[in-house]
Amino acid sequence: MANLKFQTLLGMHDTLPQDQAYFLKVRKSVESVVNYYSFSRIDTPILEMTEVFVKGTGVDTDIVEKEMYSFRTKGGDMVALRPEFTPGIVRSYIENGMFNLPQPVKLWTMGPCFRHERPQAGRYRQFTQLDLEILGDASASTDGQIIQMSYDILKELSFKNLSIEVNSIGDSECRPYFKKILTSYFKSKKSSLCSNCQRRLKDNPLRILDCKDEKCQRIKAGAPQIVDHLCEACHAHFKQVLEFLDELELPYVLNPYLVRGLDYYTKTVFEIVDKSENGESQGTLIGGGRYDNLVKLMGGRNTPACGAAGGIDRIINLMKAKEVKTLKVEEPQVFLAQLGQLAKRKSLKLFEEFRNAKIPVAESFSKDSLKAQLRSANKINAKYVLIFGQKEALEDFITLKNMETGDQEEIKIDKIVEEIKKRIKK
Ligand code: HAM
Repeated sequence: MANLKFQTLLGMHDTLPQDQAYFLKVRKSVESVVNYYSFSRIDTPILEMTEVFVKGTGVDTDIVEKEMYSFRTKGGDMVALRPEFTPGIVRSYIENGMFNLPQPVKLWTMGPCFRHERPQAGRYRQFTQLDLEILGDASASTDGQIIQMSYDILKELSFKNLSIEVNSIGDSECRPYFKKILTSYFKSKKSSLCSNCQRRLKDNPLRILDCKDEKCQRIKAGAPQIVDHLCEACHAHFKQVLEFLDELELPYVLNPYLVRGLDYYTKTVFEIVDKSENGESQGTLIGGGRYDNLVKLMGGRNTPACGAAGGIDRIINLMKAKEVKTLKVEEPQVFLAQLGQLAKRKSLKLFEEFRNAKIPVAESFSKDSLKAQLRSANKINAKYVLIFGQKEALEDFITLKNMETGDQEEIKIDKIVEEIKKRIKK
């Protein structure tokens, strides 16, 4: 290690070949759920104007205040690596006139996000998020669907002990009033709050409910609860969301102090955690909620919306701890063994012909002896080995060996792809 000059940056990691199977499995499960619910894939750039997140994620959030990788380009623009997907997707919805499409517009994506956080278990500076968004629907069933899909994805990945925490944080009608009540409660305990929360008391008392400091947590336990102060519309909406969750028999609990660390939420917020004991706790696996004002705030029309995002790295850490089986990559049934320079050269063309016919063929070009190549073929359980030696290459035929029966036969080189096609079909 002493001589190692280059290494990954703190909080960033490689996804090595042996870990790709987990990503593949997560991706397959996500795709099966999003396709079922008719979501369309969207990909937005990793870099956006910094302002997209200042406005979208919110100027008062930890993400924008402390964690965003924001910098000036050589051209003089202020840009940021996306810390999350939602503001970029909203920007795209507005920029591409998606409000003209039949509503709601259901979008999903998956990719890297960046937050300059203090690295710890399940917390990285580059991490992969899965993101679901439904834009243009105000109904409580949308919230229910987003929560159900989030839960389904984790279920598909063999998580059995999940808990869904839900809350409503009201809207611009009832939240200002609740903030006043909360401020006066915390003011009476100001001297016992951590220094960050003393500052938050002025601008954003709700954020104190999110503070992990032990003293603040104790004070939080006696704080007034927003669910008791919701306006009629928010109350009715929340009741309907809970009725949906009941109907779906989802294992939810009410957490009256769940506020989430992003500025755009209105009404429903939720988080899903894994309660089982395997592995180090990874915190929230999927979190989200409704954000009815964000599209307007970012310059679009009044568009209610709801969404969620999940941390794929955290999910994979737990899958490993739980020893969840990954998908087996299918090995080719055919192995091409070549001997000598001429055969090697000619077999490159043969590979192309098999590729065109969509028949995967394995090889180990680096091995010269037939014995070693047959061993490789055995290792992947190849059904057929195509032996292509000097004689075969000169006379344009191939010796086809059936590895199950041991039978060998000679086949003209221009017939071999067709022959294999027939046999594989059987
Ligand atoms: P978030 O709670 O900031 O929400 O992030 C969602 C998930 O991303 C977290 O629950 C966690 O699993 C994962 N995550 C966040 N930060 C890290 C990190 N540093 N390392 C590893 N994983 C991390 C959002 O991002 C919202 N955009 C969700 C949303 C979509 N709300 C509405 N639509």
